Amino acid sequence: MQQQALIDTTADYVKSQLEGEGSGHDWWHIFRVWNNARYIASQEQGADQLTVELAALLHDIGDHKFHDGDETVGPRMVRAWLEQQSVSEDLIQSVCGIVEQLSFKGAGTSSAMPTLEGRIVQDADRLDAIGAIGIARTFAYGGHKNRELYNPAIPPVLHDDFAAYKSSTAPTVNHFYEKLLLLKDRMHTPTARALAEKRHRYMEAFLEQFYAEWNATDLF
Ligand code: ADP
Ligand code: NI
Repeated sequence: MQQQALIDTTADYVKSQLEGEGSGHDWWHIFRVWNNARYIASQEQGADQLTVELAALLHDIGDHKFHDGDETVGPRMVRAWLEQQSVSEDLIQSVCGIVEQLSFKGAGTSSAMPTLEGRIVQDADRLDAIGAIGIARTFAYGGHKNRELYNPAIPPVLHDDFAAYKSSTAPTVNHFYEKLLLLKDRMHTPTARALAEKRHRYMEAFLEQFYAEWNATDLF
């Protein structure tokens, strides 16, 4: 199959799977990550475009959060889809390798990514976790999980293992400290780092205003 036709049919497949999803992992998240990834790849030298685009499109298919924490569902679904499209085994392995390693696993865990394509897609995904969209997605996810917005009595925890991070039921504001504010220093590419700096400052300003309103310090 032609590269563009493979990308287009993959986009249609992902759209049909994730359209209308309500926790911030919907088709439009994929669409933004796909755009971010194409932009970063255009600014950095030497990435394989097809691998980047397929991994960006397929990265949240079968997400562990929606399969009782099972991290093997996603890569298996990606492999099944690509095999159905008669894609080469090399390309399947590259894309599955990226999807397997993409997820944020807690503050004290590493985000090693062995390939440039993987680093680009991880940066692209993480850019969509911060800034205005990141804030919106985080509260959407918290609502989906019935979490409190904020509870001053429950401090954030910097998890150093994935199981503890995954099972957290803390209020949504804690997620800023447990993940979102850590992401700018974990960007791999200079292109994503520059974008992340701006989105990071926007989240800091949001939190400052949030606490001012919460504590009524903006009233008196
Ligand atoms: P990754 O793509 O790095 O695996 P996730 O899929 O875990 O990240 O999370 C994607 C987004 O979902 C987060 O950036 C956040 O907006 C939201 N989210 C995930 N876990 C939580 C949580 N515990 N509390 C609030 N929002 C969350
Ligand atoms: Ni994602």
